[in-house]
Amino acid sequence: MHVFDHKKELVSFLEGERKKNRTIGLVPTMGALHKGHVSLVEKALSENDLAVVSIFVNPTQFDKKDDLEKYPRSLQRDMELLQRESDQIVIFAPSTEEVYGKSVKSQSYNFDGLDKVMEGEFRAGHFNGVGTIVELLLRTVSPDRAYFGEKDFQQLQIIRKMVQIKKLPYAIVGCPIEREPNGLAKSSRNERLSETTKEEAGFIHQTLLTARSKFGTESASGIRQWVKSEFEKNPVFSLEYFEIADEDTLTPMLKKQGDQKYRAFIAVYADGVRLIDNLRLN
Ligand code: PAJ
Repeated sequence: MHVFDHKKELVSFLEGERKKNRTIGLVPTMGALHKGHVSLVEKALSENDLAVVSIFVNPTQFDKKDDLEKYPRSLQRDMELLQRESDQIVIFAPSTEEVYGKSVKSQSYNFDGLDKVMEGEFRAGHFNGVGTIVELLLRTVSPDRAYFGEKDFQQLQIIRKMVQIKKLPYAIVGCPIEREPNGLAKSSRNERLSETTKEEAGFIHQTLLTARSKFGTESASGIRQWVKSEFEKNPVFSLEYFEIADEDTLTPMLKKQGDQKYRAFIAVYADGVRLIDNLRLN
């Protein structure tokens, strides 16, 4: 495993590798790695000679100071988790100053409206922060392919849009969601849940599965209403939003259109922790 915390050294190492005709997959993360992240790294290694895994808790994408401060950080454990993959793994774990210099600020992006709904509506400035760090990582690493999880489906679509609008020459690869046995989507934030809440959090995925079974026979507004009432009855989880949206435009579904693909999206709070999930409906 190769570990870098400065852009300059990383870039010169990767230049050497490219001269040997090695292909590069980039996996951006904020650390506290789990099987979801590892599945992205494995996919990157199956399609490229090297996987560059960036580990950086990006301050500009947090809308709440408290969430940034409480975000789990475990660089040593993260490196141990990836160690076994040995030589083909490159870790890039820069400091905030190395990334942003003295001015920790986001750029402003046009994401063609994809940032105006759901996560964008409830987390002010979040996607400008994500765009800023992902663009910087892409331009620094210059990968053949970059890997993102469908766990953050809106983020994946926004990055695809950014790459398209800016004409960046990197392939963006989406990867399926890894879940706990009870269906809870794996997330670094799950570490902050109590054991009981984690057990009960299978409820989130169960609700999405039932929504999917209703899709096709019930209207989108009927399903939204049903999900809302399920959460009103539940004392552990509080619903921030539930939406059924077009996969490409992310606009809320009104009436089912012929070939369009739809997905259900959800954000809930439990134990003061914000959890998101989504599921393809058709
Ligand atoms: P982070 O939450 O650490 O996630 C890093 C990558 O892992 C993202 O592409 C995310 O979608 C994917 N991922 C997380 N949980 C997953 C799961 N259960 N199954 C499959 N993939 C999963 O997303 C971010 O970091 C940041 O916004 C980042 C893109 C790194 C920019 O700072």
